[in-house]
Amino acid sequence: MRVGIPKETATGETRVAAVPDSITKLGRIWRTGLEVVIERGAGAASGFLDEQYEAKGAMLVDRSEALAAPLVLAVNPPDPAELAEGTTLVCMADPLREPARIQALAERRLTCFSLELLPRISRAQSMDVLSSMANVAGYKAVLLAAARAPKLFPLMMTAAGTVRPAKVFVLGVGVAGLQAIATAKRLGAMVEAYDLRPETKEQVESLGARFIEFDLGVEQEAGAVYAKELTEDQKQLQASLMAKVIQAADIVITTAQVPGRRAPMLIPADVVAGMKPGSVIVDMAADSGGNCALSEPGREVIEHGVIVIGPANLPASVANTTSQLYANNLVAYLGALVKEGEIAIDLEDEVVREPMVCRGGEVTNERVKEALK
Ligand code: NAI
Repeated sequence: MRVGIPKETATGETRVAAVPDSITKLGRIWRTGLEVVIERGAGAASGFLDEQYEAKGAMLVDRSEALAAPLVLAVNPPDPAELAEGTTLVCMADPLREPARIQALAERRLTCFSLELLPRISRAQSMDVLSSMANVAGYKAVLLAAARAPKLFPLMMTAAGTVRPAKVFVLGVGVAGLQAIATAKRLGAMVEAYDLRPETKEQVESLGARFIEFDLGVEQEAGAVYAKELTEDQKQLQASLMAKVIQAADIVITTAQVPGRRAPMLIPADVVAGMKPGSVIVDMAADSGGNCALSEPGREVIEHGVIVIGPANLPASVANTTSQLYANNLVAYLGALVKEGEIAIDLEDEVVREPMVCRGGEVTNERVKEALK
């Protein structure tokens, strides 16, 4: 078996799908007969040198040879025209937001597994790319805010006077939000947080932050993994109730998402206008439509003295760590996909079935088919 690792070509992408240590781990899955071919320079942008891959037994090759392998591991999907028919590709193809990409991969008769569609079950936790990337992104979002804010995060008692701690409000408490809370707490801020899902209250409080409750008259299913989408009226009520909390904060980190849909708009422009000058909003949902009306993906906007950051691809800004985590996710996934040295597509297994977005010339995942409509 040959596994190919290309260098990523998407703008701003610095991650890579294999790190030197994961070459050894991949070898263990096949036990014998695995050749890993990696495009020269594939790890350079994330701090991994060609020699380190070679020392672990990988072969350095040019791009076309890496992409000619029957199994290709990538961060973003390569151009389908670069891949041979029948290739199996495992990557993060953003299938619900970019379904046309999946259609193009299907037309090339590839089998593609897009790991964002893994079920959120305990067996799949070690493979969960959404969690591993969101966790790092949540941390980095707080650092961006801290670096940009004109105020300190911690309480400081100095001879020149006492500095009050910054007030941070985290909106949306999934994986990214929890890490944002933990990071802001470590920096010494006073942290408040809110999510539609009531069970997040306990998680927020266990990190030493305050959970804010708003009564929207909507029952979320207890224990549901994802939040239900709100009606327009409920969204407006939520925005108006939240305005006070947002305007009292120095830093707002927004992470609210509903999978496969545009991110909910939670901070309208007039709420931003009422914030204190020098406040910072980091909108982690900027590239899926934005939680703040003023955010622009990949840009910083300053309006009414408020700094609104719409970071693009935060995981790529911590590429050494995120490449290691992603490479580990891939190793765990291949552990489920490969049986006795062969790729075994067992459609009875949800971990194999759900991320499979195309095979045999067809788009195979119902959610992607729906998104294509
Ligand atoms: P996400 O990125 O899809 O959403 C972030 C957060 O935004 C969610 O907590 C959601 O409830 C919240 N949200 C959506 N609309 C909102 C609104 N209008 N107002 C306020 N908040 C809003 O979520 P993520 O981080 O992917 O995690 C989702 C869930 O999956 C969590 O319950 C997490 O515990 C669970 N999970 C389970 C795993 C497993 O068992 N394998 C692994 C990872 C996560």
